[in-house]
Amino acid sequence: MRIATTLFATLALVASTVIAAPDNKHGGKDNKNAPLVINKRVLRTSSVPFIPHTGTGLFTNWVGLNVDFKYIQPVFQKVNTTAALGNGTLISRGESHITVILPPEYDNILSKVNITMQELNALATKNNRLQRAHFDIECLGRVQAVTQPGNVFQQSVQLIVKNYKDILAYRTDVFKLFVKKGGNPALFAAENYQPHITLGFKNRDLFVEDGVFKGKNACIHKVQLK
Ligand SMILES: *[C@@H]1O[C@H](CO)[C@@H](O)[C@H](O)[C@H]1NC(C)=O
Ligand SMILES: *[C@@H]1O[C@H](CO)[C@@H](O)[C@H](O)[C@H]1NC(C)=O
Ligand SMILES: *[C@@H]1O[C@H](CO)[C@@H](O)[C@H](O)[C@H]1NC(C)=O
Repeated sequence: MRIATTLFATLALVASTVIAAPDNKHGGKDNKNAPLVINKRVLRTSSVPFIPHTGTGLFTNWVGLNVDFKYIQPVFQKVNTTAALGNGTLISRGESHITVILPPEYDNILSKVNITMQELNALATKNNRLQRAHFDIECLGRVQAVTQPGNVFQQSVQLIVKNYKDILAYRTDVFKLFVKKGGNPALFAAENYQPHITLGFKNRDLFVEDGVFKGKNACIHKVQLK
């Protein structure tokens, strides 16, 4: 009951920040509502290599679509230095990617039927399939939550991804492999997935386990690819 109440409070906070409308009052030269411009080459991920992520500890095994940080860094700088967006509070990882198989999906579900990272990477690199995936950017998203212990205010800012059926097709093949290896189909859903490119965060990144959802719901600002 206590856990449920805390979760509800967290969700309520998240909902209220998502609903908050952008500040419209001040127009002028430095138009706050101008879309955030991103170089459209950011979508051409076939020009950067696939990077395998394998390790021995929890959260070290996952599959990612590498995104060229050269096109993401200027967006990060702009967001970090804009009061209404990042307000100079953001930490950057110095790289960018779309997580395709999440660490908990590997640790808790896929590895339990002895699927190896080598198998997932082979599936991703066959004909450079994952790096060649087509996708588009929906908006700039932001999620916020107060986490325990210590009532710490956390904020994570990301580019929300849309039109990602190639990525979904990869996850569907992973699902088929999981079932073939005897996995319970109820435990992995290819479409239960919210692709995004993390730009930065305050303190630490936030995940679905924190009660936040990095989908269209989290949009705070328009982006324009050109
Ligand atoms: C930005 O950060 C400063 C310093 O931490 C704070 O005083 C201010 O209220 C923040 N502004 C916004 C819009 O978050
Ligand atoms: C974000 O902006 C703050 C304030 O200007 C700066 O101290 C910080 O280094 C910036 N973050 C990065 C990763 O550049
Ligand atoms: C996974 O591999 C281990 C060690 O070889 C074996 O004991 C276990 O039965 C396997 N599990 C499945 C679900 O195949």
